[in-house]
Amino acid sequence: MTSITIEQAARTFGSVRAVDGVSIAIRDAEFFTLLGPSGCGKTTLLRMVAGFCDLDSGRVLFGDKRIDTLPPHQRNTGMVFQNYAIFPHLRVGDNVAYGLKARNVPADARADRIARALKLIQLEGHEGRWPHQLSGGQLQRVAIARAIVIEPNVLLLDEPLSNLDAKLRIEMRGEIRRLQKTLGITVIYVGPYRGHEVGEGRADWGAGGDLPNAGDTICGEIRRRDQLARGYGREPFW
Ligand SMILES: Nc1ncnc2c1ncn2[C@@H]1O[C@H](COP(=O)(O)OP(=O)(O)O)[C@@H](O)[C@H]1O
Ligand SMILES: [Mg+2]
Repeated sequence: MTSITIEQAARTFGSVRAVDGVSIAIRDAEFFTLLGPSGCGKTTLLRMVAGFCDLDSGRVLFGDKRIDTLPPHQRNTGMVFQNYAIFPHLRVGDNVAYGLKARNVPADARADRIARALKLIQLEGHEGRWPHQLSGGQLQRVAIARAIVIEPNVLLLDEPLSNLDAKLRIEMRGEIRRLQKTLGITVIYVGPYRGHEVGEGRADWGAGGDLPNAGDTICGEIRRRDQLARGYGREPFW
């Protein structure tokens, strides 16, 4: 049960203000979609929540507990990276085992949890396959299995559908939604532009809720979808 509060989060790399004072409140078990153009700071924001990127200023809380000062393994987040980041030299089972080994889960319990995670993403019995023997959609699902096998409270998905063709994207969208409902976890889903939303829940644009332009940076308080829809005289996204 994890609500996420991001308060005035900021990070600069050299002369680039990657994230410029972002505040977002995400409810427990919410599916929150964040959309924005390339370079606006979406990945940086997810990395801040996961613990792979320090904040220059601001805070991140899970529930009422401040977590941006904790190391990644104490946050219990699962992250699916933009390029999947599947280890090519490890079989599917060992890829999924990665987070469990890091948490010292014993081998017999590991095997059971890996089997369950693979079943959930409909790759039952694929433990022994090598990554190069899998399709793009299957690789993407292995990346999801690797993130959920640790039973995270928060799942962070960084443009997980961008490398897939249109048909597979629609299929995977359904699977991600189903998975989130089954597990009842809080999800931040990042997509590059409209059309990548997974459906239901809220979707917000970066750049302070305005429709973004290339070159915009995520900033300000990210507003709710219904306000956005009214503000721009558009239909809600779904
Ligand atoms: N580790 C880093 N070092 C230097 N610049 C970075 C680093 N990470 C991100 N940036 C820069 O910060 C900006 C936001 O990047 P990113 O968060 O990856 O955006 P997005 O995911 O929205 O495409 C970009 O200009 C990018 O080049
Ligand atoms: Mg990115």
